[in-house]
Amino acid sequence: MQTIKLNNGVEMPQLGFGVYQIPLEETAEAVYQAIKAGYRLIDTASIYGNEKETGEGIKRAIDEGLVTREELFVTSKLFILQAPEEKAAETIEHSLDTMGLDYLDLYLIHQPYGDVYGAWRAMVAAQKAGKLRAIGISNFKSAKMIEFVGLNEVTPQINQIEVNPWNQRIEDQEWHEKYGVQVEAWAPFAEGRHELFTNPVLKEIGKQYGKTVGQVVLRWLMQRGIVALAKSVRPERMAENIDIFDFELSTEDIEKIAALDMKESAFFDHDAPQQVEWFMKRMEDTEK
Ligand SMILES: NC(=O)c1ccc[n+]([C@@H]2O[C@H](COP(=O)([O-])OP(=O)(O)OC[C@H]3O[C@@H](n4cnc5c(N)ncnc54)[C@H](OP(=O)(O)O)[C@@H]3O)[C@@H](O)[C@H]2O)c1
Repeated sequence: MQTIKLNNGVEMPQLGFGVYQIPLEETAEAVYQAIKAGYRLIDTASIYGNEKETGEGIKRAIDEGLVTREELFVTSKLFILQAPEEKAAETIEHSLDTMGLDYLDLYLIHQPYGDVYGAWRAMVAAQKAGKLRAIGISNFKSAKMIEFVGLNEVTPQINQIEVNPWNQRIEDQEWHEKYGVQVEAWAPFAEGRHELFTNPVLKEIGKQYGKTVGQVVLRWLMQRGIVALAKSVRPERMAENIDIFDFELSTEDIEKIAALDMKESAFFDHDAPQQVEWFMKRMEDTEK
């Protein structure tokens, strides 16, 4: 697996497997199958509600000798908290306990709301204590990322943001490179929105190499130097999505993909009032 070196020297796999929206009863099996298919980066979050099942899939793969813990790169995320500086340490311990792990390879501030500075101080302390190998942010727009880097001693290793052919984040990637923050793509397939998997431009590009649309999209992210997380519950698609290291997109292909950029989220804007309202409600429900 191709790796990327983060700004603190930690190396991570460039392609990973995400477990968002996988039904609880299918998560452990999906994680196990993904590891069996060759994925080493596994991405979950406390708010997904499946940290336990993700940990079970990991444990089974380790117990069966498919991988060692050191060969895996496991990520979870801190959801919005009203008092993160006080509660984050406990939340991190809870994630570790729930997943049955001694440390996480990456831990992210999941959403750009609330006292992200207090959360960060707690995460820096946990990193120093050896519980988190890398720490980062998620869903921060470039302006907020720059402010965050400027006002903290420790620069985030990662910003996990939406990147896909409809929302390519070309300028955002340049800003992140300037500040040494690695971009990690969520929803690389835009969850299939705008008929991604049947898009004629992407299909035509893939045809030249005997590759599918999904493979073209993930290869495009690899060539851009972005870490990508793909999700599938189907072993045949897991295998398809990881089979992207034996071809190269040409400059012409990349220009054709560039022309697809709509420069807006295929989902929602994190600054939209109704969206922030939705997140505040989610926080209240989880803190109950
Ligand atoms: N930080 C954040 O706020 C955030 C937000 C969203 C996601 N994420 C992370 O990013 C990961 C990936 O994003 P995502 O799950 O939202 O969406 P995604 O990976 O863009 O799309 C997943 C969808 O594509 C389908 N699919 C996968 N491979 C396919 C293929 N080769 N051909 C056809 N269909 C295929 C899957 O269906 P099947 O499962 O039926 O195959 C699923 O419906 C998540 O799992 C999560 O870990 C993070």
